[in-house]
Amino acid sequence: MLARSSLAEASFDAPPAPVRLAVERPEDGPMVDALVERAFGPGRYAKAAERLREGNRPIRPLSFCAFGAEALVGAVRQWPIVVGEARGVFFGPIAVEAGWRKHGVGGQLIARACAAATDGGEAFILLVGDLPLFGPYGFEPVPAGRVLLPGPVDPRRILWRALRAGGVDGAAGLVSVARD
Ligand SMILES: CC(C)(COP(=O)(O)OP(=O)(O)OC[C@H]1O[C@@H](n2cnc3c(N)ncnc32)[C@H](O)[C@@H]1OP(=O)(O)O)[C@@H](O)C(=O)NCCC(=O)NCCS
Repeated sequence: MLARSSLAEASFDAPPAPVRLAVERPEDGPMVDALVERAFGPGRYAKAAERLREGNRPIRPLSFCAFGAEALVGAVRQWPIVVGEARGVFFGPIAVEAGWRKHGVGGQLIARACAAATDGGEAFILLVGDLPLFGPYGFEPVPAGRVLLPGPVDPRRILWRALRAGGVDGAAGLVSVARD
């Protein structure tokens, strides 16, 4: 196990940090919330993405924690949404503790979250984020104007990934919280 000081000194080409990924448990919730707060700060509540989390619940089997030794060092959540009338998954937030970044933890969380959504039979994942970060995991920009978030967003940052052939067929229009 790499100590935090070693992580900070490791070259960027070092092998991925050894972390244990596990589905988020209810008792992990406060730690995940605190990590997200540290990573994004209070400004995150103003984001359009937050409107899709309010009054919504993360899909437990699709939301993951990364533990280094026993401490939480990263997390990702995914949420049920509809785009127009097509049901899918909204990805985020994803956050890695500052001292653990650039060692592959975020990439491991993205890959695991995508695999779990695919295995769970989901049609697509939508997110608001940077293409250089998410492109290598199969995400691509949503065609301009096809999807509307509940608030202002740079349209170039609206990305999605179909999880099966035709997965985003019929997905167009306003994004909202899925109501079962
Ligand atoms: C984004 C974040 C989760 C990435 O975690 P990480 O553990 O550093 O990710 P990885 O080490 O797996 O890096 C994945 C790759 O994405 C790159 N990357 C990381 N953040 C990026 C960003 N915002 N834009 C573009 N590329 C980014 C890394 O340089 C790395 O590139 P490489 O694979 O070519 O070397 C982490 O930096 C973080 O918590 N940031 C603060 C919160 C945040 O911005 N979340 C994302 C909002 S969309």
